This record gives sequence, C-alpha cells and structure tokens, in this order.
Amino acid sequence: MNDLFSQGSVEERINQLREELNHHNYLYYVKDAPIISDHAFDTLLKELQDLESNHPEYSDPNSPTQRVGGQITKEFPTVTHAFPMLSLSNTYNREEIEAWVTRTEKLLGQTCHFVCELKYDGAAISLTYENGQLARAVTRGDGSKGDEITANVRTIQTIPLRISDQAPQTFEIRGEIFMTKSSFSHLNKERVKQDIEPFANPRNAASGSLKLQDSREVAKRKLDCFTYAIVSNTPISETHYESLKKAAEWGFHTPLVAEDYVKRVENVDQVMAFIAYWDKHRLDLPFEIDGVVIKVDEHIYYDELGTTAKSPRWAIAYKFAAEEAVTQLNGVTYQVGRTGAITPVAELTPVLLAGTTVKRASLHNADQIAKLDLRVGDFVKVEKGGDIIPKVTGVVFEKRNPALPTFTYATHCPECNSALHRPEGEANHYCPNEFACPPQQMGKIQHFISRKALDIDGIGSETVKQLFNEGLIQNVADLYDLTVEDVLPLERMAEKSAKNLVDGIAASKQQPFERVLYGLGIRYVGETIAKKLAKHYRSIENLKNASVEDMLQVDEIGDSIARSVAQYLKREDSIAVIERLRQAGLKLEAEKEENTNVSDKLAGKTFVISGVFTNVSRDELKSLIEQNGGKVSGSLSGKTDYLVAGDKMGPAKREKAEKLGTHIIDETTFLALINSN
Ligand code: IVH
Repeated sequence: MNDLFSQGSVEERINQLREELNHHNYLYYVKDAPIISDHAFDTLLKELQDLESNHPEYSDPNSPTQRVGGQITKEFPTVTHAFPMLSLSNTYNREEIEAWVTRTEKLLGQTCHFVCELKYDGAAISLTYENGQLARAVTRGDGSKGDEITANVRTIQTIPLRISDQAPQTFEIRGEIFMTKSSFSHLNKERVKQDIEPFANPRNAASGSLKLQDSREVAKRKLDCFTYAIVSNTPISETHYESLKKAAEWGFHTPLVAEDYVKRVENVDQVMAFIAYWDKHRLDLPFEIDGVVIKVDEHIYYDELGTTAKSPRWAIAYKFAAEEAVTQLNGVTYQVGRTGAITPVAELTPVLLAGTTVKRASLHNADQIAKLDLRVGDFVKVEKGGDIIPKVTGVVFEKRNPALPTFTYATHCPECNSALHRPEGEANHYCPNEFACPPQQMGKIQHFISRKALDIDGIGSETVKQLFNEGLIQNVADLYDLTVEDVLPLERMAEKSAKNLVDGIAASKQQPFERVLYGLGIRYVGETIAKKLAKHYRSIENLKNASVEDMLQVDEIGDSIARSVAQYLKREDSIAVIERLRQAGLKLEAEKEENTNVSDKLAGKTFVISGVFTNVSRDELKSLIEQNGGKVSGSLSGKTDYLVAGDKMGPAKREKAEKLGTHIIDETTFLALINSN
C-alpha cells in the first residue's frame, strides 16, 4: 500500500480529519453558519473515507463518515427510562396560563421566573451520554419504557456523537427529533414519484423514519433535533436557561441558535407576548411547532412542585388554536371498541385541514350529536389541533336545508345487531354482546397482548387481526392453543416469525397476576386498578368470591369498578376463558411477596416527601415507606402524618405543614423510625 503517511501519522491524520469534519458539521448543521464550501467539505470527507477503508484498524463508530448509517436493526430492544418521560398538560388561553402561574407561585410561596420555548412537533427522544459519547437513544414509548433506536439516531447530524469533556461523565439529555418542512416536502415528492403513500405531516414522517430498520435509509431522511432538558443526578445548573446554555456549549442543538426561539420572562404578559409573536410567525419557521412550552426557570423549585401522574407541575404547554374547516356531513357510522363502547363517526366530504385531508371525525357520543343538533346533510365545522383526532365542533346553520330530518341514534350494534344499551349516568352506548361481537372479541385479544398487559413478543395487533379473521382465535385463551403449524399458512408469516409468535405466547405465562387481570380487559379495570385488586385479593378466586360491598372497602375502588368486576367474574363465558387460562399455566394468583412488605411500622400513616436528600433518593424513600406499610401522597393535606423534609424544601411547604400540624422530619429521623424496634 502506497501511503502518504507513516503508520503513526495515518492515525494522526485520521483524528485530525475527524475533528475538523466534526467541527464543520457542527458549524453547518447546528450553527447554520458554515465556513467552508460543500466541495471543500466533501474533499475532506473523501480523504477520511479512503484512509478509514485502507486502515480498518482505526475504524470508529463515532467517525463523521459513519453518519450515513449502515446498521440494520430487526427489532428495537425495549429500555426502561431511568426517569419517566412525562408529557405536558395543555392550556389554550390566557386564563389557563394565569391559573397555572398563580397555582405554581402559590405552591412555592413566592414568585419565580419562566422560560418560554417553542413546542417542536416531532418525536421525543432521550439520549444517554457516557464518558463523552452517545451511548443510547431511546424513544418516549409509553413514558416508562421506550425503544432503543441508537443506530438510527446516530445518523442525525445535529446530535453529537462525542461531546466536550466539560460535560458530566454520565447524563441524559432529552429533546425532540423533527423533520424540517423542506426535507418533508422533498421526501413526499419522492414518495409520490415512486408511488408510495406520502406522509401526512412532518411529525409522522419523523417518527416513521426513526422506526426504519435500515439506518442508511434514516440517514437520507435528514432528521434534526432540538434538545430541551438535561436529566442528571448531579445538578447541572441553577436554572433551566443555564442548562440550555450548557447543552449548547457541549455541542447540542438548542433553541439558543436563534435569538427569538427561547426567552426568559417573569410574568404572564411577557408569556402572552411570546405566544402572540409565534402564533403570528410560526408559518415562517423552517420546522413545525404546535405551541409554546412554558417552564419554571429555577431548578430548585422542580422537586417541590413535583409531578402529577402524567406531567410535571413546573411546565405547561400552550397549544395554538386549532385550524378549522367547513365541509358536509354525509352520514354517521359507528365504531365498536373492545369494551363494547360505541363511538359515532362523522363521514365527511374530504376537506383539507392543517395539511391533511380529513374524511372522518369523531362525534364522541349521542349527547354530543344532540347538543350540536347535527343532521346528515348539514355543513359542519371541523377542527384539528396537534395530534388530536379531528372533531366536529358545530353546524353552519345558515347553510342548513330545512327539509333535513332530525337525527336518530343507532339502536343496534352495527357489527352484531345486538340492541345497544346506555347505562345510567353514562354518555356512551354499549353493545352488550361482549363475547361474540367481532370487534369486541378482537379488541380484547389486542388489549391482552399489549405492552402493559401480557406484553407478548412476536405478535402485534395486525397479526391478531389476521388470526381472528382466519378463525384461529376467538378469545384470549385460544392464543395458548396456537401451534407453529396453525399460523404458518398466514400471509407474510415465515417459519421464524411463527416460532417467535408461539414462543412469545408461551413466555407470557410468566407474567404476574396483576398483568393477567389487567389483560382480561374488564371495563374500568385499568393498570392501576388491576394492581390494587391483585395486591388486595391475591388471586382470581378470592376476587370472584368478593362482594361489591367488600370491593368498595379497597382503596380507590368505586361503585362502577366493583360492579363491573363482579359482573364480569359471574359470567359463564368469562369463567370459561379464565379456566382455560389457568389450565394453560397463566398466573391467576399473586406471587408470595418477597421482602416487599418488610414491616407494618408505618401502617395507616401518610407521608409527603419534599426536597433533596443525601443518603437516599426520593424513589428509595418512597419504596421504604411503602415497604413498611405507609402511604406516599403527592401533596400536603389534613391527612398527612409526616413531611419528610430534605434540603432546599421551599418555605411555603414548611409553613403549610406547620399550619396543618404535620410532623416534619428529616431523613435521619425517618430512617431511625423504620429501623427502630
Ligand atoms: S419539555 C414533560 N420542551 O412535548 C417533560 N417538551 O407533551 C418535559 N416537546 O413529549 C418536556 N417541544 O417531546 C419540552 N420545548 C419543549 C418541547 C417539548 C416539544 C414535546 C415533548 C413531550 C411533549 C409534551
């Protein structure tokens, strides 16, 4: 080989080229301010590619040559987020923002600063860096677990593969992956040319691209990413604004690249000015946004404000008013959900709305139709905001033909013709034919295999549909009788996938009782309720024997839930399915609780945790309380027995606790409490 360099300097030249190219990439993609021509860049890249292919001993997955992708991922591994990826509560007007600001400052007992940011319309991503390198990229998924899509994310030029050594050794940074409007229209043009269905909007294009198996294809999609939060055990900065600055210094693409993408403010007027500005100018942006995010700036308040089950209290989204269109209502059809709930659907003359063609829209229920005084043939207003399904918001009465007959709601199930019934106090009509109405049967099986239920690998909703339509399964128990030979004849089913399917089903027998209970799809029994019931009754047998009155004594179990469970467990068809699940080897009893309940020392006591701790994490504290029989609550009330106070707890909380007469203890006292004899 005729090298221009000696061995030692080949490595040096490679490193030098990588550094230079990384820097130019950063200037081009992140800063949008290149200092060399595309041609000069390509020449350097070519030199590096040649050197790397002649010297594979110096290959490096972080090299700028690797941004073109190459890795194929068959199935993305599921990864549990160290910190859940929450979502934001939405507001739609000044009053709601004012209410949030007032609530926040009241909780804190003092005023605070805010940061206004754009709400990028793409897909959330969590990036983990270890020792200065991108180690993992995981999608939001269901918020607690997501898909690891690192190979695909590595192709995104604005996501650094290596970062400055000023960054902590390990940390997670979160952001939004999106596709610019120009890349989106370019991609769609190409798709139309190739006779492939175009994407509905840049958000779908971005999330669709992230799930491609071939990272080389992802690289071609030209995705982009804005980072919006650093998540770390060690504090990064005192304020959110400072953390954005840090992220930018470390090489991330942040909204600080433009002077008007982010603003530090201190009152509602300034928040509203930011919103008004972007409501007017958002169409001029090179990417789509669906609103603005307002965050408390001071990090010290985050712990104190805490989170609800779904979203942090220290941030809120403002969604821009939905776009509206007028079109004609040609008819109403009815969808039957897995619980038998009927959803009326408006069949519309296709109309363009916020970049997509809308043909159908939800009508929610009979009351909604009556309230709108809707008639088939009316011209109706249709709205769509963000990812919300389009909905009919009103009738254009001036255009109504007075001869139109009033609307009558369906009386029978469109799928199985059973007479519909509407339970008292409920807005929905239901088809009572739970075990023989096809969409209910199929929906139940789809629910059973889903992630939060039995989480069966190797089988998805589409396969369930195929199996169901082929008559191979009618209920969840039938899954356990399936053999490789049964499923092989299905379309697009190879030997390997057939085996995966059968293995996946077999593996689900190890899932705990609470998941089986949730998987049964009993009306009103969501994940949390299933857990509560499983924990309390410990077996399906005990639950079956429990009366409605008995169930009402269990924490969080109300009348509708108790009735629904009792009714379900009395039905012959459910009893038969459960019996078959038992024979198949599924867990219908809770495991012996190993060590989880360490003592009952804290039985009947309610705790609130606030502030930062030295020897235990908040999560550890929470489990210690629960393991010793206590309850943890999110907010102080007359029922709180103890406030476990850490550092940086706000004065307002202390005051409130004192007023309520709650015992305020520190972590040492708490640990002494559970360790005492
Ligand atoms: S902060 C809730 N900032 O909006 C956790 N989120 O419903 C804190 N999003 O899935 C999120 N732009 O992916 C934050 N500037 C921004 C954002 C943003 C878009 C997305 C995010 C999340 C969703 C919240």
